[in-house]
Amino acid sequence: TDTVDATKPLTGKHVLVTAGPTHEPIDPVRYIANRSSGKQGFAIAAAAAAAGARVTLVAGPVGLPDPDGVAVRRVETARDMLAAVETALPADIAIFAAAVADWRPAQEATSKLKKDGSGVVPPLHVTENPDILATIAHLKDQRPGLVVGFAAETDDVFENAKKKLGRKGADIIVANDVSPETGVMGGGANTVHLVTAEGIESWPQMPKDEVARRLVHWIAGRLSPTA
Ligand code: CTP
Ligand code: CA
Repeated sequence: TDTVDATKPLTGKHVLVTAGPTHEPIDPVRYIANRSSGKQGFAIAAAAAAAGARVTLVAGPVGLPDPDGVAVRRVETARDMLAAVETALPADIAIFAAAVADWRPAQEATSKLKKDGSGVVPPLHVTENPDILATIAHLKDQRPGLVVGFAAETDDVFENAKKKLGRKGADIIVANDVSPETGVMGGGANTVHLVTAEGIESWPQMPKDEVARRLVHWIAGRLSPTA
């Protein structure tokens, strides 16, 4: 008979996590990026490993160390992140905690752009990056059994999160208010709302490590027992 370890509900599962910002080069010395410490995503990867999963963490440029027992793939750009995610498939659960830059310079200059003293600024043409979460959630063959996205919002948190759930094809959106006064960006704590087709469950503010542990166990509880 199988014995189930309640502390390791993800034993035998492969969990894929994205974390951190992406950097989109303008020229050899400049880039476009999102604000993201990577803390919440790294904490989720660590918590999934502690819950018994095999974990692949695809991380944008952050200074955080590899969590114990996690296979970490370090990337720079959104396109690199998508490629690393695709390479890591198949996965049972995919959690997209990265703050991906929505746009990248249409052209990366091979030489440093220079001020010429005239006050004329170079035009910055941008193009949209691939949506990694939406791409993976809409896969025909290799779609992970559970697809979890984040929605970092400053306004209309629930409205925006519900829209993202539908538009991106995710099973769960973890919504949080990242207005500057909340201190979530870069801070150690987070207040999250779990948005699914069934409704919204709001959790009190807690440390990001605690959010990660609870989230991993909550997600594990939503995996079908036969999966
Ligand atoms: N995401 C992604 N790839 C992108 C943009 C976003 O995988 N190119 C993922 C994020 O990791 C997150 C979710 O999509 O899980 C929502 O990201 P967010 O930036 O809030 O949504 P956007 O669709 O980019 O909308 P906006 O930035 O305009 O709010
Ligand atoms: Ca975005």
